[in-house]
Amino acid sequence: MFSASTLFITGTDTGVGKSLFSAILALSFFNQGKKVCISKPIQTGSPKDTDLLAELTGNKIPNFNTYSFSLPAAPVVSAKQENKEISIEKIISDIKSLEEKYDCVIVEGIGGIAVPITEIRDQRSEIRENSHLPSPISHLYLVADLIKDLNYPVVIVASPLLGTLNHSVLTIEFAKQKRLNILGFVISGYNEVSSDPVIKTSPDVISEITKIKCLMKVPMVKKMSFESINLISKSIAFEEINVLT
Ligand SMILES: Nc1ncnc2c1ncn2[C@@H]1O[C@H](COP(=O)(O)OP(=O)(O)O)[C@@H](O)[C@H]1O
Ligand SMILES: [Mg+2]
Repeated sequence: MFSASTLFITGTDTGVGKSLFSAILALSFFNQGKKVCISKPIQTGSPKDTDLLAELTGNKIPNFNTYSFSLPAAPVVSAKQENKEISIEKIISDIKSLEEKYDCVIVEGIGGIAVPITEIRDQRSEIRENSHLPSPISHLYLVADLIKDLNYPVVIVASPLLGTLNHSVLTIEFAKQKRLNILGFVISGYNEVSSDPVIKTSPDVISEITKIKCLMKVPMVKKMSFESINLISKSIAFEEINVLT
């Protein structure tokens, strides 16, 4: 058994700040002297998240990827377009092998937790036996199934903007239904001085409905750059970050 700290970063949608938060977190661990890496097991479309993650972390944090597809769509769709097969076993073994070499392994998910990765009809039978399937959409293996099979605690990144209550509550309740270990949610793009009642109240309302903690409000950055992200990572209190390890 390896004692690496492991985390899965998912979101309420694509484009909510998963890469940004993964980079902030990785830099916080790095700044504490930990050996940390990021895995983006599947990416679709371009620009590639692996390039973005390298840029946002100032090339200080290694990142790893198993599958890259050019069509910006759910992996099940993108892989089919290229006549490729996605092996869940390969993804899991690639990620688990990182636990041997790093103190912290941060996995950035793909879109949200109900995104289909592959059809499981053709996958080896033990994957089905070992997982908690059948899921409600039983012939498809979802991001939530991967989180469950990895057995990694999960953090959900959400937006502070109008629509977030619906997206966040649905995501958190689906995660509960899948019996995931939810550490909490993070609001990305929070403006402390905003007078918008939606922004001001959304973290508390999500917590009130779901009984899940808001772990962090990531401020709005003017530019997605290593400098701005490193600054945020340095401002994170150790207590905040240690909840996640
Ligand atoms: N804290 C933030 N400050 C400013 N922009 C943000 C923030 N969080 C998310 N965004 C916006 O969301 C976009 C997508 O962020 P990204 O981390 O790539 O999302 P994901 O990985 O979930 O697809 C960014 O390019 C940026 O415009
Ligand atoms: Mg991303």
